[in-house]
Amino acid sequence: MISKIRNFCIIAHIDHGKSTLADRFLELAAHVPRRKMKEQFLDQMDLERERGITIKLQPVRLNYQSYELNLIDTPGHVDFSYEVSRSLAAVEGAVLLVDATQGIQAQTLANLYLALDHDLAIIPVINKIDLPNAQIEESVKELSDLLGVEESEVIKISAKKGTNVKKILEQIVKQIPAPPEQEKNELKALVFDSNYDDYKGAVVHTRLFSGQIKAGDKILFKAQNKITEVSEVGYFSPFFKKTEQLKNGQIGYLVTGFKNISDIRVGDTIIHQGSKIKPCAGYKEVKPMVFASLFPSSGDDYKNLRKAIEKLKLNDSSLIFEPESSRALGFGFRCGFLGLLHLEIVQARLEREYDIGIITTVPSVAYQVKLTNNRAKTIHNAEEWPEPEEIEEVREPFVKLDIITPQKYIGQIMPLAENFRGNYLNTEYLHSTQETRAILHYEMPLSSILTYFYDKLKSVSSGFASLNYEFIDYRPADITRIEILVAEEKVPALSCLVYKDSAYKQARQIVDKLKEIIPRQQFVVKIQALVEGDIIAASRLAALRKDVTAGLYGGDVSRKKKLLQKQKKGKKKMQSQGKVEIPTKAYLEVLKR
Ligand code: GTP
Repeated sequence: MISKIRNFCIIAHIDHGKSTLADRFLELAAHVPRRKMKEQFLDQMDLERERGITIKLQPVRLNYQSYELNLIDTPGHVDFSYEVSRSLAAVEGAVLLVDATQGIQAQTLANLYLALDHDLAIIPVINKIDLPNAQIEESVKELSDLLGVEESEVIKISAKKGTNVKKILEQIVKQIPAPPEQEKNELKALVFDSNYDDYKGAVVHTRLFSGQIKAGDKILFKAQNKITEVSEVGYFSPFFKKTEQLKNGQIGYLVTGFKNISDIRVGDTIIHQGSKIKPCAGYKEVKPMVFASLFPSSGDDYKNLRKAIEKLKLNDSSLIFEPESSRALGFGFRCGFLGLLHLEIVQARLEREYDIGIITTVPSVAYQVKLTNNRAKTIHNAEEWPEPEEIEEVREPFVKLDIITPQKYIGQIMPLAENFRGNYLNTEYLHSTQETRAILHYEMPLSSILTYFYDKLKSVSSGFASLNYEFIDYRPADITRIEILVAEEKVPALSCLVYKDSAYKQARQIVDKLKEIIPRQQFVVKIQALVEGDIIAASRLAALRKDVTAGLYGGDVSRKKKLLQKQKKGKKKMQSQGKVEIPTKAYLEVLKR
């Protein structure tokens, strides 16, 4: 009965205890057998458990009293905000979980605003009240102010110990509305996730907004315009549990005939073949925003790396890759990621699960370049950069950035954000009984966030500031390319893209670094940095002088002179041939700068 269904998710900043709370729900209402109950059940991947970061959504059906509660776990990190938004579209309510030792953080807010946009019922909860440093009263006040609810409505729990967790279930039943009934009985189902199962193949995670679906149905994925037949439907117990059918309001899975999950797009709507029903609103394709190349540390591992990436891609359709070869690093892959965390996770999984040593180049963004011949080009790396006279305009991705911080650090954060090219917009305040905290709003190039901004923010705020960002659009940027010449020869793999106003400084750094790393030769080696045809930084590597006269005894001066003369000639010849072996370390220093 639809009136007995409640669909909800938990939204929280990273580490505020979402997975731990989900575990308690599972114990209370899904009766997961103890031996199968690993800690943090919903984060199934080992890496997730180790890092404590939820990457994939893992839904589960809970039976509480006579109610069917469908919980969708949501990732709390910025890289996955589109997945958060899809989970929110699949439910009617959200448990807003805040760590009482931390208070509201940037991602709590970002996710809360998303939830309010979706008109969800919000159940405010503060967690970790068992900890001695929990600021219970402050956190309750902060939450009640933010949401405009009575302080008594904020539930105080310890997810770890299970204290008051039942109260949340009671409020879920009371406050979250049942899914609406529909007059029409035509199938309309939202895809909010998918996974690849070794036995079943591509599995769709879905929420039905009308009609029903069962095995044997012919269905159409609207945005992808792909037709397939359903071979099985069911729900998550949290294990796959096969059922006859799924009905309006329910959350569950369906197994399709697709071979891989790239055929399934999160946010797509499933309808019956031939149906004219309007699809769910808000479909958006996720696009990778951060790019980096991955090379195996040992060339022999190239084939293994390819296999491993293909395997990862099976369960991660947002990962994109294409083969690449570099003179310096050999064969590898140019990859696109949703964000830095996504990159880090992929890299760690390749190393851990597939035992392949990986060299990662410095992450970069994609530039949109308008050429003078009116064509447009998307550029991911310096080697593809057009000649200066071909460029009409360059645009770079910009993000909206929110930083939450205790007020006392504002003085350090503002100059830092400015240094990283942030445009300050405004400040809001979160009031609590003791310490007022500020929300600083900025717009900033995405590339700034890739270059240590987060680390510096953490260090100037003693770890208290948190940030969240969201892509807004592409904006004009003054970008240029630094090219490097070694012994008068261009080394394309050493070139890089920089802001024009920092080109001089960066060129100097690269040249100095290379001087340290490139071994001295028999002849003088010039190391030069070139921007738009001008040399803006240069350095000389002195020649090694081999003592060619060492074998001579006594004072045969003319013979000595002859030998030195011969050496000089030889050096000239070598210099003109300009062959300098550049060690891989030099490339890495520049690529990983
Ligand atoms: P992400 O999956 O990364 O978003 O984190 P999460 O929100 O799922 O947090 P998780 O459940 O992994 O908890 C983070 C840490 O806080 C873990 O070490 C938990 O053991 C701990 N923790 C969670 N709830 C409590 C609590 O009520 N009390 C105490 N003392 N620790 C808790």
